[in-house]
Amino acid sequence: MADKAKIFAGLLPELEATLRGGATRDGKLQRVCDLLKAEVPYFDWVGFYITDPEKPDDLVLGPYNGAPTEHVRISVGTGICGRAAQTRRMFVIQDVSKETNYLACNPDVKAEIVLPILVGGGVWGELDIDSHTPSPFSSDDGEFLGKVCSLVAEMVRNEG
Ligand code: SME
Repeated sequence: MADKAKIFAGLLPELEATLRGGATRDGKLQRVCDLLKAEVPYFDWVGFYITDPEKPDDLVLGPYNGAPTEHVRISVGTGICGRAAQTRRMFVIQDVSKETNYLACNPDVKAEIVLPILVGGGVWGELDIDSHTPSPFSSDDGEFLGKVCSLVAEMVRNEG
């Protein structure tokens, strides 16, 4: 997708202003989901999963934009989200039909990217994006979304 770099460059200052702004944490995360879903044509579901402070082996669905999902709580190790939390690394799945450890939300989803958000050496949460387009992600997506996750981590750290 030729315009990717342009879209990402245009979005970053607004995302930065949002995450460094004065709204509530959930308000800011919701705005990030809304912006990403609205501005990137192949981002069809954008959401945050947040580690449950009471039960750190679970990720709980936070703000999102897209079709409702039954996966409101995911165990570390399960699905793509659970594996990204377990390994603390980004997962880029260009074809979800080839995955065996996968939690399907919706039959239209063809690809998924999940990035852990690391704070204080632990997984604070994750940014999860589903696409209805097959093989839509390139290194540009990973790089851009990594910056978004760093901004979220900065916000969390600044909350103390
Ligand atoms: N597909 C994810 C579950 C979350 S939904 O995409 C919203 C997974 O396998 O972990």
